Amino acid sequence: MKAVVFEKLGGPEVMKIAEVPKPEVKPGFVLIKVRAAGINFADTLFRQGQYLMQPSLPDTPGLEAAGEIEAVGAGVANLKQGQRVAALGSKMYAEYALAPAAQVIPLADSISFEHAAAFPVQVLTAWHMLHTSHQTGPGQTVLVHSAAGGVGIVAVQIAKAAGARVIGTVSSAGKAALIKEYGADDAINYATDDFAAEANRLTGGRGVDLILDAVGATTLEKGLTCLAPFGHLTLYGRAGGPPEPLNLFKLFEKSIKVSGFTLYAVAAVPDAMRRGIEESFKLIAAGKLKLLVGKSFPLVQAAEAHKFMESRQSTGKLVLIP
Ligand SMILES: NC(=O)c1ccc[n+]([C@@H]2O[C@H](COP(=O)([O-])OP(=O)(O)OC[C@H]3O[C@@H](n4cnc5c(N)ncnc54)[C@H](OP(=O)(O)O)[C@@H]3O)[C@@H](O)[C@H]2O)c1
Repeated sequence: MKAVVFEKLGGPEVMKIAEVPKPEVKPGFVLIKVRAAGINFADTLFRQGQYLMQPSLPDTPGLEAAGEIEAVGAGVANLKQGQRVAALGSKMYAEYALAPAAQVIPLADSISFEHAAAFPVQVLTAWHMLHTSHQTGPGQTVLVHSAAGGVGIVAVQIAKAAGARVIGTVSSAGKAALIKEYGADDAINYATDDFAAEANRLTGGRGVDLILDAVGATTLEKGLTCLAPFGHLTLYGRAGGPPEPLNLFKLFEKSIKVSGFTLYAVAAVPDAMRRGIEESFKLIAAGKLKLLVGKSFPLVQAAEAHKFMESRQSTGKLVLIP
């Protein structure tokens, strides 16, 4: 089968299409015929050896995909061959990929494989930050950084659906218009404006209740200056580089808190995972959450897709089609 393979760490150009053995299904897993693989910013870090998990070279990126079950491993009772699914897994930039049965999400016929590939990582990350790590509700103001990106555009909509006021930060005027289309109340271009001063101005000096921050180096400390009393900042990524160590005494003045978030922690709690999936699909069915596939690339163009994501021009989800 064809897969995207990199033999050394580096820029997008290290990824090449290669012929590799088709994986064999094993107990507790399913083998998926991949119809669309989701691209995540994390894949760009993995390719460079800067992610939580280190590649074992030669390796294949890819944390999620959608497709049909080709084979079911021993001990898997609730899934069947031919079923349309999305899944969290590894090595998913490929024609076939394995996924643990517990991380497979059955799909309704109404959802396309491209949209389904936009679901597992980004929707569940946004949902659990807003409803597991934090309890988002009416009367709160949520500031979403990189709000036009994959996680961002979903977080904007889920926070709105929860009744919150949403302020998004983005790096271009085009992205500002896009997030307003998806329900953001206000958009701040943080490439040109001081986002914390703007957020304080927009909230009449009170500040925001929750900040979702996956930028890190350039946003974390500044974010603390626009949190309301008892406000909460969740750090869940580092697209802008790792932040400096935080002086915890900065939290005292307004009784604020800073937390970290990773979807892996939720994936280890099946009941929480199920609740996020059910509630997110309810939002989709109610028309309150629209999945945005910004661009699809053929599998052979994985390097171009990574360059596009790293250029900060992409919006919504990028997917690869084998
Ligand atoms: N902890 C978790 O479980 C988890 C799960 C999913 C994703 N994440 C994190 O969430 C973030 C978003 O992921 P995604 O896959 O949805 O990607 P994405 O938001 O679609 O793309 C990355 C965005 O980051 C912003 N950005 C800010 N500074 C950047 C820089 N120096 N270089 C490149 N981009 C920069 C850009 O938007 P602007 O230019 O508009 O700011 C860019 O479009 C990533 O940091 C990712 O690692 C974490």
